[in-house]
Amino acid sequence: MSDIAKLERDILAAVKAAKDEASLEAARVAALGKKGSISELLKTLGAMSAEERKAKGPAFNSLRDRVAGAIAARRAELADASLNSRLQSEKIDVTLPARPEPRGTVHPVSQVFDELTAIFADLGFAVAEGPDVEYDDYNFTKLNIPPDHAARQMHDTFYVSRQADGERHVLRTHTSPVQVRTMLKQKPPIRIIAPGRTYRVDSDATHSPMFHQFEGLVVDDATNLGHLKWTLEEFCKAFFEVDKVEMRARPSYFPFTEPSVEWDLRCDRSGGQIKFGTGNDWLELAGSGIVHPRVLAMCGIDPEKYQGYAFGGGIDRLAMLKYGIPDIRSFFESDLRWLRHYGFAALDIPTLDGGLSR
Ligand code: DAH
Repeated sequence: MSDIAKLERDILAAVKAAKDEASLEAARVAALGKKGSISELLKTLGAMSAEERKAKGPAFNSLRDRVAGAIAARRAELADASLNSRLQSEKIDVTLPARPEPRGTVHPVSQVFDELTAIFADLGFAVAEGPDVEYDDYNFTKLNIPPDHAARQMHDTFYVSRQADGERHVLRTHTSPVQVRTMLKQKPPIRIIAPGRTYRVDSDATHSPMFHQFEGLVVDDATNLGHLKWTLEEFCKAFFEVDKVEMRARPSYFPFTEPSVEWDLRCDRSGGQIKFGTGNDWLELAGSGIVHPRVLAMCGIDPEKYQGYAFGGGIDRLAMLKYGIPDIRSFFESDLRWLRHYGFAALDIPTLDGGLSR
């Protein structure tokens, strides 16, 4: 076999053996690259006599063309093969049945969080948050409950061991410290709603050591108890999905409001059901009042210029009433059958126009 025939056979074998783009490129460079075997061969033409060049030139050139053709063909083969393997591995069977419905449900407490924020958002309130582990200062002192104040006893507080910052911390006993946090960082007008977790050392059929509250705060230059009452009424109508409610005000005492008012909702509990707007029963709804000037001042707001109202109440009880759940402890037992029974469709978000609790 001539040297040329052998060279051609070797190159074509290497091209055929190339299993991927990289090894094919290596074979191409070895043959046709600047220092490749065929390029070297073509260079020898320059030193030949005219006769010899005439004889060998066409053979060398056609060798180069055959090799280039073989490389192009192999490249196309490899591209086809890689496309086919991708098509195989990324195949989707569109005839398979759709995934089953999601099995998780939204917990009634989360549902009430969502309903509450949707209603208050409609009234122009923004959602505010604070941490569960709170400064003693924000949970009590800045709410006008100094360290020796009797009201501290009523809160059955979980104390947290002293932190690195030297501050005393507690598990917040109510959502009212969110008022403090909001006023410390925001200038009036303020209009916030803060649903969240709260903690007290207490546990029976109607008390859980961890429970949920909502807190509302409005601070502006002309707010009064009438605004407060209207706001709570609008909330109750939307939340309980009734056209009419009747509220009763009771004088009360909270250190952070003056005057302080507790609100009850007229209801009828006869026949094992609860109806609002009629009947002779009253249901405790929320504590509230006009924000104490001392609280405003401690939170950096001028009480000569601004005043506000605040309110707060239990979320778990709202959920129990609205959805007929008898025992608060069942909320936190993580019983799957309970969750399937009382839970809400995971993809439905309550809105006032779309319905709160379809
Ligand atoms: N923080 C009070 C509690 O846990 C409830 C409350 C009363 C909140 C009056 C308020 C308020 O914002 O103005 O019992």
